[in-house]
Amino acid sequence: MRLFVALRPPAAVLNEIDAVVAPYRSEWSRLRWVASDRWHVTLCFLGEVSDEVLPSLEAELDAPAKAHPALHLSFAGAGAFPRVHRARVLWIGMDGDRRELTELAGSVSSAAGSAGLEPTRGQRRFSPHLTLARCREPTDLAPLVDALEGFAGTGWTAGEVHLVRSHLGPKPRYETVHSWSLNAGLPHR
Ligand code: 2AM
Repeated sequence: MRLFVALRPPAAVLNEIDAVVAPYRSEWSRLRWVASDRWHVTLCFLGEVSDEVLPSLEAELDAPAKAHPALHLSFAGAGAFPRVHRARVLWIGMDGDRRELTELAGSVSSAAGSAGLEPTRGQRRFSPHLTLARCREPTDLAPLVDALEGFAGTGWTAGEVHLVRSHLGPKPRYETVHSWSLNAGLPHR
């Protein structure tokens, strides 16, 4: 099964982004826009994971949840990967506890490694974002990034991390396999 670990922001926060993005969906119809009910913040992409590994993966993911506090975050700014003028991915950026978020992503990646997975293979440095759209071919997204980079959303608290299964095919969908509460008792450093 194809798995990743992610944060699921609250619907109200996603609705704010959706309202700002909506006018551009039709104007930029050649992009593959992600439906707002599928928006998430990927902490760690795990790829194909065999059924036998799942129990140890779930056990290993207890540790990062216990070791990290809930995160205070907001969506802000916009950009494109790998670069704006020949982009593949359009994203909204993140503000707030970015350092703690990066540390959490690192711990999740280490936990996956302890379960025998190689989550870092082929991945770049963690860069907090929410993917809005993907391009079928490299595209100059400068006008879109210009239009969205002033975005500054309401703050929210990420209190949970989720192990999510990605079902590909004609009707792709995400299924939450397991969720962990972050450690509300831990102070922020
Ligand atoms: P993204 O939000 O940064 O684009 C589920 O497929 C999530 O895993 C995607 O939203 C994507 O995160 C990430 N993902 C998918 N395929 C990936 C890959 N080959 N390498 C790294 N991350 C990937």
